[in-house]
Amino acid sequence: MLALTQPLRPHWRIEQADCLAFLASLPDRSVDVITTDPAYSGMNQHMSFGRGRIVGRYADSDNDRWFTEFRDDPATFVTFLRECHRVLADGGHIYVMFDSFSLLSLGHLMREVFAVKNVIVWDKVNLGMGHYFRRRHETIVFATKGHRRLSRRDLPDVWAIKRIHRALYPTQKPVALFTKMLSGSAEPGMTVCDPFVGSGSSAVAALLAGCAVAASDVDPRAVDIARRRCLTVSAGGPDPGERAALVDSAP
Ligand SMILES: C[S@@+](CC[C@H](N)C(=O)[O-])C[C@H]1O[C@@H](n2cnc3c(N)ncnc32)[C@H](O)[C@@H]1O
Repeated sequence: MLALTQPLRPHWRIEQADCLAFLASLPDRSVDVITTDPAYSGMNQHMSFGRGRIVGRYADSDNDRWFTEFRDDPATFVTFLRECHRVLADGGHIYVMFDSFSLLSLGHLMREVFAVKNVIVWDKVNLGMGHYFRRRHETIVFATKGHRRLSRRDLPDVWAIKRIHRALYPTQKPVALFTKMLSGSAEPGMTVCDPFVGSGSSAVAALLAGCAVAASDVDPRAVDIARRRCLTVSAGGPDPGERAALVDSAP
């Protein structure tokens, strides 16, 4: 078990830890919603799409590698999902992000552990890279532990939210993406968990929704950025993570 390095107050806790070690530190049924954006690579390296240039190429930058990739072989991924299941409250909701490749290699494993309800498309609005069709979307698998409906019935399964540039962190996602995940799943006072919190966009969304946060990342730089954002936002200040970033404005 990890020793807590921060008290639970002021309602957020961000640990520098491996996702499995962090989840092991949480009691059974102690979180209400999990929103997470894992660092995939392992399986993808065995899949040759295009010229095989897909995710996780941070490993190629000579020395200043930004983050470690999660060993996302199927067995480890199922272990991860089972831990998520254990810490989720009955009726809890989970949102797991996948790029196109990890969706094929690992996404189906969600059904071994959870009741999968939707595959949501995040439309990033503007074109990204790609050797064939240029990538413009990622996916989010929405699933439940047991059965609890969304609190609203007006949410579509395609979300058009522009990506951000010049972010503080290489894979930083817009807070609005996580706000959307929480919009039908979280109520003030609930606890939101992200074991791959990165720069903390999910944590900021949770705090803005009036929720507590339990989160981790292996990368000390990520943890530092995420904690700074949480400190500022929980004190009522503007999110320094998105003030520094530019919303994509390319045509
Ligand atoms: C795709 S990024 C998350 C980005 C985040 N959603 C944001 O908006 O900044 C994945 C994160 O997982 C972290 N990571 C990689 N392996 C991990 C592990 N075994 N346990 C916990 N975090 C890990 C990386 O350091 C990286 O910050």
